[in-house]
Formats: sequence, structure tokens, C-alpha cells
Amino acid sequence: MQNRITELFGIKYPIIQAGMIWTSGWRLASAVSNAGGLGLIGAGSMYPQVLREHIQKCQQATDKPFGVNVPMLYPDLDKLMEIIVELGVKIVFTSAGNPKTWTPYLQENGITVVHVVSSLKFALKSQEAGVDAIVAEGFEAGGHNGRDETTTLTLIPAVKEKIDIPVIAAGGIATGAAMLATMVLGADGVQVGSRFVASDEASSHPLFKQKVVEAGEGDTHLTLKELAPVRLIKNKFYNDVQQAYANGATKEDLISLLGRARAKRGIFEGDMEEGELEIGQVASLIKSIKPAATILNDMITEFEEAKKFIASL
Ligand SMILES: Cc1cc2nc3c(=O)[nH]c(=O)nc-3n(C[C@H](O)[C@H](O)[C@H](O)COP(=O)(O)O)c2cc1C
Repeated sequence: MQNRITELFGIKYPIIQAGMIWTSGWRLASAVSNAGGLGLIGAGSMYPQVLREHIQKCQQATDKPFGVNVPMLYPDLDKLMEIIVELGVKIVFTSAGNPKTWTPYLQENGITVVHVVSSLKFALKSQEAGVDAIVAEGFEAGGHNGRDETTTLTLIPAVKEKIDIPVIAAGGIATGAAMLATMVLGADGVQVGSRFVASDEASSHPLFKQKVVEAGEGDTHLTLKELAPVRLIKNKFYNDVQQAYANGATKEDLISLLGRARAKRGIFEGDMEEGELEIGQVASLIKSIKPAATILNDMITEFEEAKKFIASL
């Protein structure tokens, strides 16, 4: 398959494994890159020294292109960016911040920059900031999201109409048929998160992977909009948040309820009650934990089958 995204990154299939805190280290990223997609190391949960080790291990594990996702809301951003440049990483996906801040520095150092957005407004700002491509992430997606609740089906055509640079669709994509659907709407590639959480190579806790596989329709919700909106699985922590809202919680109350390291506690340490369990709506369609390469190859087979089906209509 060849298009603007495969050419931009030098990959075989326009499938990007999303950068995900506590989930996407070098093992997952290199497995996806070796299988022909683009693997991303999620730097959001890594101290600078940890990121350094993951990049070096990824470089040893694959000779294919891979990238690093950097959410721009954590401390040590300068150090993370320095390490990325020093170690010769060629692709960076930034999220949760202003794309103007780091894009010129990264591009001056020969790095392809992609920024993640959840609205047309920020897609236009990213294009203005000079990024090489954008990820347009719909309301279904796992993890942090926008406040406007724009679904992938609505966001992609809206962005496509106004944006000239390549568009990568995200949110609710776990199959080749969903991939084809977003490409029909104008996406040049897809970023897949939740599906890769339930992979052998993901560093997420086995109990969390199992929880994802067991999740049903309606088991996730986008909440904590006053802080940073996040889609998570309904568990005890989620119920405590709902109770806090019912009691008229202020922003400060929510910050104190969230506390520190909630996502680590759930996703990485496996506390299914008190942890923040970030996952997308599409979890309800995920039925098994598989090797990352199988997930990718299944998606390509489904994509080809879906294309044939459409041609037969
Ligand atoms: C467990 C988890 C952690 C995530 N962490 C990040 C992150 O660190 N940075 C980021 O830009 N997006 C993060 N996301 C969002 C993903 O990058 C991706 O855009 C999203 O999962 C796509 O939607 P899907 O889950 O429906 O596939 C996370 C998502 C999940 C499920």
C-alpha cells in the first residue's frame, strides 16, 4: 500500500500504533514497526533516563522507522526533546499543547512532526504551525480527548475539507473495515490505540488487558472535563468521581480526588478499583489479546476484504 502517509514515514502500511502512557514502550513500538506499521514509544509516562533506554532498545530491536509521542503537559519536556534529537529519532508525535512551541526546533533537527488534535480549530492551528501531518482524534478515543465531543465520523470529513497536509484518523479504529471507512472519509492513515493495549507486547498490566477484553458497550465514559477530559472504564475510581460531581465538587476537589499517578496505578500496576483505566469505546469490540504483528496483519486482511465487499455493492 502506498500513499502520503507511507511515504512520509517510509513504512509499508499506513497504520500507526498510538503513543500511550504506561502501555507503549520499546517492545510494542518495535513489534509494530517490524510488522510494517509505525510504532510509537509513549514518552508521557517516562522520566528522561527511561525514555533514553526505550529509544536505544527500540533502535536495537528494529531497523524500521519508529517514533516517539510526547504529550506536552509533563515536566522535563526540554530534556525529553534533547534526548530525542541526540539519539537521532526521526519522527515525533506531539499532543496536548501548542504545536508552535516545539515544531520548529524538531524540524530544524531533521524530525518529521505530527500533532494530535480533536477539533477542526486545532487542526488549522497545527497546519499553521507547520507540522508535517495531523492526527484527528474523535470522541470515541481512549485517553485524553477534546471537550467538544466531535466523533471520528464527523471530525475527519470536516478536517479533510480544510487541511492540505496528510490526516491520520484516530478514535474507534480497531479493524481494517473501520480503517477503510475513515480513509473513504479522507484520512490518509490511522492511529490505533485501544486495540494495541490488548496486545502481548503492551506494557499495560495483564489485569488491565483482561478488563479491556471484557469491556462491553457503555462501559467507558469521557469525564473530568474540568481538568483534562479523559475516557476511562467505569470502576470504583470512576464512581467516586461521579459521586464528587453529585456533591458539587469544585475543580480543586477533583484535582485532589485524582491525586497523583492514578493512571499508573490502574494501567501499569493493575489496580482495577482505584486506578484510572484509560481506554476507548472500541474496547467493547476487542475480544482477545494478540501479538501486535497479528493485530496489524488482521487489520490489513480485513481492509482488503472490506474493499472487495464495497466493490461488490
Ligand atoms: C491507555 C491509553 C493511554 C494513552 N496515552 C496517550 C499519550 O500518552 N499520548 C497521546 O497523545 N495519546 C494517548 N492516548 C490516546 C491514543 O494515542 C490514541 O489517539 C487513541 O487511543 C485512539 O483511539 P482508540 O483508543 O479508539 O484507538 C492514550 C490512549 C490509551 C487507551
